[in-house]
Amino acid sequence: MLYRIHTYDNPESTARAVAELIAAMAVEKSGQNQFLHIAVSGGSTPKLLFSLLAEEYEHTVPWQNVKLFWVDERCVSPTHAESNYGMTYDAMLRRPMIPAENVFRMKGEDFPVDEAARYEKVLREQLPAQNAYPVFDLILLGMGDDGHTASIFPDQMHLLDVEQAVAVAVHPQSGQKRISLTGNIIRNAQKVAFLITGKGKAEVLKQIISKDDVAAKYPASQVWASSGIADFYLDNQAAALL
Ligand code: 6PG
Repeated sequence: MLYRIHTYDNPESTARAVAELIAAMAVEKSGQNQFLHIAVSGGSTPKLLFSLLAEEYEHTVPWQNVKLFWVDERCVSPTHAESNYGMTYDAMLRRPMIPAENVFRMKGEDFPVDEAARYEKVLREQLPAQNAYPVFDLILLGMGDDGHTASIFPDQMHLLDVEQAVAVAVHPQSGQKRISLTGNIIRNAQKVAFLITGKGKAEVLKQIISKDDVAAKYPASQVWASSGIADFYLDNQAAALL
C-alpha cells in the first residue's frame, strides 16, 4: 500500500482540508448527476469536521447529491451520549443540509447481529458493487491510540478479512458491542482518508507510516482504498514523529 500524508498546523486546518475534499468530491458527483456515497467515523476527532461543514459548507456543497453512511456505531440508542450518529446529528445533521432519506444511520439500539445484516443489505441496495462488495466513494476513518480503526480492534483482526461487509465488534475494554464496516468493504472504496489529530496518536502513526515490523498488529495499517492508497490527514501533533 501507499500512504499519502497531508499535514496541517492544527486540528481546525486539518478538518478544513477534509471538508474541502468532501466538497470537491460532492461537486464533481453533482456535475455528473450522481450521488457521493460517503461513510463517516465517530469518536471525537470528526466533530470539528462536522461542525465546520454545518457552519461553512451548508450552502456551498450540493448536499442533495450526498448519501451519508457510517463506518461504525456503538450499540446504544441514537440519543445516547456515545452514539456516533448522535454526535453527527448534534454537530451537523440537526440542520436540514442532507435530505433525511439520504442519511443511513446504523441502528445501534437494535439487536447487533440483526442490525449488521440489515445494514449490509442497505449498502448492497444503495451502493454500486465491485469485487462482490459495495463501493463507497469515500470512507473517512479515525484511529484510536491502540491503532484500531472503524470498530476493528487489535484483538479482533479477523474483522479485516471476514466475508461480511458489516459485522459485530466488541470494544476490548468496555465490552460495548459495535456495528462496524469490515476490512473487505473498506478496501473496496474509491478513496480512504484517515483524519487523525493529537499527540496521543503520534507513536502508533509513526510505526504504521514507517511500516515497522510491529505495524501489522494495528488494524489501521491494514486498510486502504482499492487503489492501494490511503490518505492521512494529520495535524502537526499527530505527525510529530514522521
Ligand atoms: C468510534 C470511531 C473510532 C474512532 C477512533 C478515534 O466509533 O470510536 O469510529 O474508530 O475513529 O476511536 O477516535 P477519536 O477521534 O475519539 O480519537
